[in-house]
Amino acid sequence: PDERERLKARIRRLLKEKNAVMVSHYYVHPDLQDLAEETGGIVSDSLEMARFGRDHAAQTLVVSGVRFMGETAKILSPEKTVLMPDLDATCSLDLGCPIDEFSAFCDQHPDRTVVVYANTSAAVKARSDWLVTSSCALDIVRALKDKGHKILWAPDRHLGDYIRRETGADMLFWNGACIVHDEFKALELELLIKEHPQAKVLVHPESPAEVIALADAVGSTSAILKAASEMDATEFIVATDKGMMHKLRQLNPGKQFYEAPTAGNSATCKSCAHCPWMAMNGLADVARVLETGANAVHVDPAIIPRARMPIDRMLAFTA
Ligand code: 13P
Ligand code: SF4
Repeated sequence: PDERERLKARIRRLLKEKNAVMVSHYYVHPDLQDLAEETGGIVSDSLEMARFGRDHAAQTLVVSGVRFMGETAKILSPEKTVLMPDLDATCSLDLGCPIDEFSAFCDQHPDRTVVVYANTSAAVKARSDWLVTSSCALDIVRALKDKGHKILWAPDRHLGDYIRRETGADMLFWNGACIVHDEFKALELELLIKEHPQAKVLVHPESPAEVIALADAVGSTSAILKAASEMDATEFIVATDKGMMHKLRQLNPGKQFYEAPTAGNSATCKSCAHCPWMAMNGLADVARVLETGANAVHVDPAIIPRARMPIDRMLAFTA
């Protein structure tokens, strides 16, 4: 604990010295969430992380999350230094959507508007018409459908299929999945619901359709937080990364939160409800990158203007 406190004190001092601010995702370690808030940064979902990073006056952003979040911050603020605790912190959706194959897929369907999820590389963003995150995807697709657009959606097939069911939009899918949410299991969830019949079930839409079908509320990380504070219940079963439990419990003392079941235990499931890449973020690395300037995010300047266009559209739509 002393080492932790020493590291936190060092980070607080370095953030001031370097005119830096910390932006953390809800799925990273609670220490990094609390430290971001306490020092004038934020803990939030990927949409608000992007907006906050763009609007904050600090010259250096420390992004605790996964690679696409650091890249989005850099695309929106190329003049700022964007540091990440670990540049290898990626995402199965980003890994599963390489630009060459994706670009060929888009070329085969020129009649479709290309809508991509934020969890993608800068090059994939630069090939898209619209960017979305889980908190605005439904509204953006609904608006496009109302204007008569047919959609090519990438990469998360579960989120895409959920949006198709909700909006009735004509959507063609890339076949990607989040290794964390893909592991939630409907049968086991039904058993847990039987154990806690009063509990409301909150589900992130990157989960399989059978799991979503059992939900009382479906939504992004921020929508899950809102539902937990607003719903008339004291018990909740939560199907998303367990990093969310920290904020849920902090904001809702007196309410009970249970983790939704995954495929099994750590021997049998790939992620066990915690993203292995989010877990790569730690205090020691935050201190190190602030001290040395290591792990600066680089995005090819040649693609920044084109990659920025769909991000700006999303931020304007949600402003
Ligand atoms: P949010 O957009 O809700 O922050 O989710 C990002 C993510 O990686 C979900 O797994
Ligand atoms: Fe990607 Fe899933 Fe990890 Fe989110 S939780 S960063 S979608 S692998």
